[in-house]
Amino acid sequence: MRLQGKTALITGAARGIGLAFARAYALEGARVALGDIDIERARAAAAGIGASATAVEMDVTRQDSIDAAVAATVGEFGGIDILINNAAIFTAAPIVEIDREEYRRVFDINVAGTLFTLQAVARHMIARGRGGKIINMASQAGRRGEPLVAVYCASKAAVISLTQSAGLDLIRHGINVNAIAPGVVDGEHWDGVDALFARYEGKPPGQKKREVGAAVPFGRMGRAEDLTGMAVFLASAEADYIVAQTYNVDGGNWMS
Ligand SMILES: NC(=O)c1ccc[n+]([C@@H]2O[C@H](COP(=O)([O-])OP(=O)(O)OC[C@H]3O[C@@H](n4cnc5c(N)ncnc54)[C@H](O)[C@@H]3O)[C@@H](O)[C@H]2O)c1
Repeated sequence: MRLQGKTALITGAARGIGLAFARAYALEGARVALGDIDIERARAAAAGIGASATAVEMDVTRQDSIDAAVAATVGEFGGIDILINNAAIFTAAPIVEIDREEYRRVFDINVAGTLFTLQAVARHMIARGRGGKIINMASQAGRRGEPLVAVYCASKAAVISLTQSAGLDLIRHGINVNAIAPGVVDGEHWDGVDALFARYEGKPPGQKKREVGAAVPFGRMGRAEDLTGMAVFLASAEADYIVAQTYNVDGGNWMS
């Protein structure tokens, strides 16, 4: 029960990694708000966790929606101790085909969504005076570029950089900001990635997944549950002295 008495807001928690985090936090004793643009699915997910979870409608591209979700979480739980900025989308295209609207959409969700949700929750944590833990979801894609993935890679590099700046700025308020960089994690997200690679690399459906899984030193793709240990640790008192870091949890794909 390492998070007993703590409250957490997790964005993009209706499915995938965010939902696994919500389940793991509840098992560690936290109360959890599942923020998502897909409110019906977030409600069903929260109901599956039980009384310690609630669903909060949230579009991280809209400031009024971020503010309302933070206020709803504070109203329900009395405060926020932990934020996970997890909501994000993936996109792929060769450089010569990148579309400006798609670029805006990805940066709006992955970068501005992370920054302004972090800002809203940091303001609340500072006013409350109890510090807190903020975890941003980066990616191995933020560690290096990839030929078809320029926009997503750049957005995740920005998340790593924001984690460093926010971590250094907010630690004087007792707020630890760190990030997790997963490798390839199976789930609906990667089904979409596989479909994009099928289109651009002419691979049959499922082949890209098999290739990336076989290339992981651990020997398989990650599962959302492979990431929960790091997410619990970074939210716990054991991580009080950890500031502005990005941790790879990727089966050995990347070393830095
Ligand atoms: N799956 C992977 O292989 C992988 C690898 C590296 C990093 N990541 C990162 O981990 C995080 C979670 O990934 P996942 O695989 O669970 O993704 P996912 O696509 O399964 O889930 C993303 C969730 O975000 C929600 N969302 C989308 N736009 C939103 C918005 N504007 N406002 C609020 N919610 C919104 C979606 O409804 C969905 O529930 C993301 O930040 C992703 O970039 C994933």
